[in-house]
This record gives sequence, structure tokens and C-alpha cells, in this order.
Amino acid sequence: MNRIALVTGANRGVGLEVCRQLALLGMEVILASRDAEKGRAAAAQLAANGVRVEPMQLDVRDEASIARLHADILSRYGRLDVLVNNAAVMPDSGIRLLDIPPDMMRGSWDTNTFGPLRLCQTFIPLMLQHNYGRVINVSSQKGQMESMAGGSGAYRVSKAALNAVTAVLAAEVQGTNVKVNSMSPGWVRTDMGGPNATGSVEEGADTVIWLATLPDDGPSGGFFKKRQRLAW
Ligand SMILES: NC(=O)c1ccc[n+]([C@@H]2O[C@H](COP(=O)([O-])OP(=O)(O)OC[C@H]3O[C@@H](n4cnc5c(N)ncnc54)[C@H](OP(=O)(O)O)[C@@H]3O)[C@@H](O)[C@H]2O)c1
Repeated sequence: MNRIALVTGANRGVGLEVCRQLALLGMEVILASRDAEKGRAAAAQLAANGVRVEPMQLDVRDEASIARLHADILSRYGRLDVLVNNAAVMPDSGIRLLDIPPDMMRGSWDTNTFGPLRLCQTFIPLMLQHNYGRVINVSSQKGQMESMAGGSGAYRVSKAALNAVTAVLAAEVQGTNVKVNSMSPGWVRTDMGGPNATGSVEEGADTVIWLATLPDDGPSGGFFKKRQRLAW
């Protein structure tokens, strides 16, 4: 049976490209989007180019939405092999952490940190039942402690915390065939990255695809960019 993959925030940008590439590898891909109509439109766009994916609704902030998706995946496939936590927001470009209002901070954490954590808590137990799982937390070098700088503090802190989530979960499943890794796609041309970004979505998706197809002796609990390990 083909591997089953779920990609969050997949109606555009890096997530959409990850769906395309995973489907071309022969996986059954669930293209999850918070707006069901946008998800259907993105899936139709891929289908027009001969790539079949399954659109499903998912707002990573909404526990009822996650529970519905979990039930749908269980009844339809019975398992999940690959989870790509890609959905994110960056509400505070150019704003100093000193000035960020609490609601902006909470909103950023809710989507970028608690969202992936909720999905991991929902799907890693299912992966452990089947002793196979590849979890990719799409993070950012803006969350890297080693190169931490000012500005976009809500985004930076939420991604640093996401990296900590990766490290803790990887330790908790160590010794199983479930691997949990963080990665950065680099600066890529999407709505978030803007038109001047140096990389394409294909380049941004590459390390996700590599981590999603890791062999059983591949790494877990790491932070990667361009298939190379980064310092936390
Ligand atoms: N682009 C870059 O240069 C860059 C650099 C480093 C890291 N990253 C990371 O790469 C990932 C993809 O970024 P991108 O550039 O492709 O961003 P993007 O074009 O802004 O796309 C973000 C996606 O996340 C979705 N999303 C936002 N909140 C959501 C929620 N609550 N539930 C479900 N989906 C939600 C959006 O859905 P809607 O369409 O409904 O808004 C959209 O599909 C993110 O994790 C980002 O932090 C990007």
C-alpha cells in the first residue's frame, strides 16, 4: 500500500509544492487547508497537471477540526505515515518584540507551535501503532537560537519553541521507527517570503521531501536546511 501523507497549510506556497512532489513519488497525499474551498481549488490545479491529491479541511488552531480530520483519516486509510506541519503565520514582520501586543504573540504560537504539537499528539500515537512515521516540522532559521536577532519576535519565538517541540518529541519516540525533525525551507518566493526571495518553492520543498522519505536508519531529532544539519 502507498504511504499516506498529510500536509497542513497546503493550499499555496511551500505546502502545495510538497503535496505535488510527494504525490509524484506515489504517496496518497492529503492536502489540508483551513478554507475547504481554497483546498479544493488547489487540488484541482494539481489535477489539471495530472497530479492527484485529496483535499481535506483543517484549521490547525481548532481542536474540533483536527479531531474531524483524524476520524476521516482513520476511516479512510487506517493510518498516517508522513505528517508535514507546514501551516504558519508571520503577523509581525518588522515589529519589535518589545512592541508586540499579547494577542499577536498568542496567535502566532497558536498556529506555529501549538498547531504542530496538537497534530503530533493526534497522529504520532497512530504512527507508533504501525511503527512507521516521518514527522517534518517546517520551521525557520528565524527560530534558530544560534543566529537569533531582533524583529518578528512572535514568529521567531514560536519557531524556536517549535524546534524544542521537535527535540522533545523525538526523544520521547527514540528507539521506534517514528522520526521527528525540524527544517527550514530557506527564503523562498511565496506570499510569506515575498517576490524578492532567493529560492523557489521547489527548492524550499526539497528538504521536506528528503525528510519525508528517510530510510529507517535516517536521523531524528534534528534541524535541517538544504539536507544539512543546522545548529539549534
Ligand atoms: N517563505 C519563506 O521564505 C519561508 C522561510 C522560512 C520558513 N518558512 C516556513 O515555511 C512554511 C510555509 O510557508 P510559505 O512561505 O509557504 O507560507 P504562505 O505562502 O504564507 O502559506 C502559509 C499557509 O499556511 C496556511 N495557514 C495559516 N494559518 C493556518 C491555520 N490556522 N490552519 C491551517 N492552515 C493555516 C495558509 O492558509 P490560508 O491560505 O488560508 O491563509 C497557507 O496555506 C511555514 O511554516 C513558514 O513559516 C517560509
